[in-house]
Amino acid sequence: MTDIADATATGADGLFHLGAPWADMDAWHDRVAEIRRTTPVLRVDAPEHAPFWVLTRHEDVFAVSRDDGHWKNTSFSVLGPDAGYREMELSGFVPRSLVQLDDHEHTSHRHVTNDWFKPAAVKHRQPRIDEIADHFIAKMRAMGGECDFADDIAQPYTLHVIMDIYGVPESDEPMMMDLTQGIFGANDPEYLGGAENADQRVLGAVMSLIQYFNEMTTDRRACPRDDLASVIANGEVDGCPMGDAERLWYYIIVATAGHDTTSFALSGGLEALLRNPDQLDRLRHADEDAIVRAADECIRWTTPVRHFLRYATEPTTIGGVDIPAGGRVLLSYPSANRDEDVFVDPMRFDVTRTDADRLLSFGVGTHFCLGAQFARRELRTFLGKLFAQIDTIELAGTPSWSESHFVSGVKHLPIRYTFR
Ligand code: HEM
Repeated sequence: MTDIADATATGADGLFHLGAPWADMDAWHDRVAEIRRTTPVLRVDAPEHAPFWVLTRHEDVFAVSRDDGHWKNTSFSVLGPDAGYREMELSGFVPRSLVQLDDHEHTSHRHVTNDWFKPAAVKHRQPRIDEIADHFIAKMRAMGGECDFADDIAQPYTLHVIMDIYGVPESDEPMMMDLTQGIFGANDPEYLGGAENADQRVLGAVMSLIQYFNEMTTDRRACPRDDLASVIANGEVDGCPMGDAERLWYYIIVATAGHDTTSFALSGGLEALLRNPDQLDRLRHADEDAIVRAADECIRWTTPVRHFLRYATEPTTIGGVDIPAGGRVLLSYPSANRDEDVFVDPMRFDVTRTDADRLLSFGVGTHFCLGAQFARRELRTFLGKLFAQIDTIELAGTPSWSESHFVSGVKHLPIRYTFR
């Protein structure tokens, strides 16, 4: 058994709990590859944070995610300063979305919308995803050969797909975009809005979403429609209407998790293609199978969800490191997705790789991403259409990454292009 002190880092220079290190992903991956090699289970003692252990190996992230008997999500499944957790508890305002629920509460709530996200149901929506993708390709054409692909295309495209199934009117989409960025990107100075700090920004965004979705609930209860908002508004758990808090958090998780993630996979995927022109050339007129593999490689490469936490129900040992009961581990999905023991030449972006489907970008186990089918289809659809029509495409400026240790990726991608 390893002496725990050997596997300790004070703050690990903020690699896992601060926003700034995520602005330079090449540097982040270089440093974490070294940690994965030397200290795959790393105890971090960061200022203002109770200790946590980072799981950097695919094997460990996989095993803990699948063992929901011994590892719980709890209301604090996203890493933040202890004071923030305490404030949430004192205010009685703790998150209760699917990711924070455990055991029967989790499965019974997931059951409310599960049918909407099954492969057959998502396949049924393919014509609509095609239409929306066509609209955004047309927008690229109309922009005359230059755009910020992340801001102008990837963000609104992925937002529109999810808002379309939700039943949120198009006129409300810019507000939804702003509020989602307020939740996921609050650590990034660009997304602070008028708020003084990240906590204030998150709280403001959550309060606005609550008000919006309360009005939506009233509307969909009075007049149910064929949309996801009506399913959530009228959802029952164990034969009773869903609780108010759980319903609101349900709306929030689907609205927010549903697009920033996918949009970062698309913008970051294109950024990687532009940096690797040989890979980009392989996608011109590629067949469906090749596009499927390429989309998975974009999702592996970008891994937009940077972590979730799990809490041990009893003392345990992982990779020779002791974790006490109640101890928490950080599942480092970006690190797991570059694990040399699982992926051949993991630091190489390769749209033809056959092991990309071992990605952990969507997690695994009972909390496996509800929207994975949508995300994959959105990427495949857009990449397929883009590379069937594009002639030239190149960077027109320097890309930049958002600064968040939770959900982040390429936020600006200036490109220049011509269509055939
Ligand atoms: C590339 C895009 C996406 C990525 C990388 C991603 C990633 C993730 C991850 C890592 C989890 C947690 C898995 C775990 O704990 O094992 C998750 C859960 C979830 N995702 Fe996604 N996601 C994406 C797209 C979407 C979309 C499009 C939606 C909605 C339409 C969505 C909705 C959710 C929900 C509701 C959960 C909670 C599931 C649960 O706890 O049972 N996600 N996602």
